[in-house]
Formats: sequence, structure tokens, C-alpha cells
Amino acid sequence: MLKDWTDAHTAAFQKEIVSFQHKLEDTGLFTDEALIALLDKHPSEQLDVCSMGDPNHPHYPNKMRTGDFRGIDGKAILAAAKSGMVWVNVRRAMNIHPEYKAVLDEMYGALSEKTGNKAFNPKGGILISSPIAKVPYHFDKTETILWHVRGQKRMYLYPLTPEYISDTGYENAVVDMLEDDLPFRPDWDKDASVFDLQPGQALTWPMNQPHRVDNQSFCVSVTTEYSTVASGRRNAAMLTNATLRHKFGMSPSYWKAGPAENYIKSVFGRVIKKTGLAAKVNRKDYVTFKIDPDSDNYVVDVEPFERNF
Ligand SMILES: [Fe+2]
Repeated sequence: MLKDWTDAHTAAFQKEIVSFQHKLEDTGLFTDEALIALLDKHPSEQLDVCSMGDPNHPHYPNKMRTGDFRGIDGKAILAAAKSGMVWVNVRRAMNIHPEYKAVLDEMYGALSEKTGNKAFNPKGGILISSPIAKVPYHFDKTETILWHVRGQKRMYLYPLTPEYISDTGYENAVVDMLEDDLPFRPDWDKDASVFDLQPGQALTWPMNQPHRVDNQSFCVSVTTEYSTVASGRRNAAMLTNATLRHKFGMSPSYWKAGPAENYIKSVFGRVIKKTGLAAKVNRKDYVTFKIDPDSDNYVVDVEPFERNF
């Protein structure tokens, strides 16, 4: 699955931005036909069909929106993604379906062999996205690899410093499962590392490094993530900080605390998560549009309702 991996890739893996070539396209699992078959059999509760409210929308300007795709076949969902307004996240596709799982095992088998790390527990989703899709500025809470398969997308990676990822931004993402976005300032682009991803190219970066993505065309990518001891500890420490902030009115900082303090907070974070004392946000996911193949851009507003599929 890995084409050009060298010792330099191994040395930089998880520590720096690393770009490498892969062979996912050769599997035949990412063609239009294969994706249509995948969409037709994928469980609906593991599928997200999303859109972005345009800046002039009266209710959803520049907001990520959840769509209803029930009763719409894979062919129409793919056509909706190609037409421009819609993108599709086939969550855990690489784990759920045996033919994709075999490929995921090969991908991580190759990484294990090259890096010596045997402790991967990867989850993999497939992102099918429109030419105008943008993934807003955010960070991922686990180690992430983007395996780009079809189309062109531009990826911006920003410095991993308190200026770009604040304590409260991190804590909010740990506490609120639906919230990954961070405050963003356009002038930060001058400090970004920019990559024009081509089919067959994969990119990975140090855990939590903030980033955003602009599509240049219709795109198909695989995103894989895996947790590590370090990611589990950091997220647990952030949960402690969020709890101290919201329930006890304190202003903790992961960035300013030393390793010992953060380690203790991570132990505490696991305890309070189990006991239910931890700060928690249970935000509801509202469906605000449905896919309609008879509409020009496939997107038709509906009366908002809580997602139940
Ligand atoms: Fe990401």
C-alpha cells in the first residue's frame, strides 16, 4: 500500500508533516461504481450527508448543515456530491465492509512494518466531497492520516502553538462531540504550510496540528485515525481542564502546565469521565435539508428536526 516510504518517513512519522505515495486507487474500491454500491449498503446511522449554508442563507449562513438522504439511492447521492453543494462522510466504511477492511489492514500492516509501531487501532472513513467543499479550520483529537484518492484538494496546516489552538478551543472540542471547529483568522494563512494534494498522495502531521481544506474539484479521500497513549492522556487532561473551568470557575492551561501536572490531570480526567462528573455538552444534531434529485443543486430546506436515522 505504501509506494515511496523511506527511513526519513519513519523518522518523521507523527513528529513532522509527512507526505507519501499510496496505492489505494489500484484496489478499484473508489471508482464511481464501487462508491455507489458502498452507499447503497452502508448503514444510514454511519452516513453523513452535509452541506454548507451559503453566506446569504437567511437561517444557515456559512453553517455546516445535516441532510436527510433516506430513500435516496447511492447513484443520486454521488451525483449530489458531484454537483457541488453536498459532501458525504461514509463513516467507518473501512472498518464495516470486509473488502474495505482488508485494505485498511494492508495500509496499517505496511505502516507497522515500516515504523515498528504495532499498536494501531485504526478507524477509517471515506469522504466524498464536492468541488466547492471546504473543511473549516479544526484539529483532530487523535492521530490522523489523509489518504487522498481522487481529485485535487488544497490543505493548509498551521503551527501547533497556543496562538493557533487555544486551551478553550481544545477543551470545547473534547467536551462537545459535535464541535471540532476552532476560531480562525484569515491572516494566519501566512504561517500555514500549504499542500496541493494529488491522487495517490497521503499526508499526516503531528497530532492536534490545526488545519483546513479547500477542494479544487470533486474529491474522494480516505481519512484514518488511531488513538495512542499520548492522545488518550492529552484528551483526558483537557477534559479535566474543561471541568475545572466550567464547574469550578478556574482557568487552567494545558500549554502552561508542566508534564507532571498534565499527567495527574489525565488520570483525574479518566476518573471523572467514568463517574459522570466531567463537563459535558449533549448537543442535538438537527436535520435542516433533504437531498432532492429533482432540485437544481439537490438541496431542499426542510423544517428542522432532530436526527433520528
Ligand atoms: Fe482533520
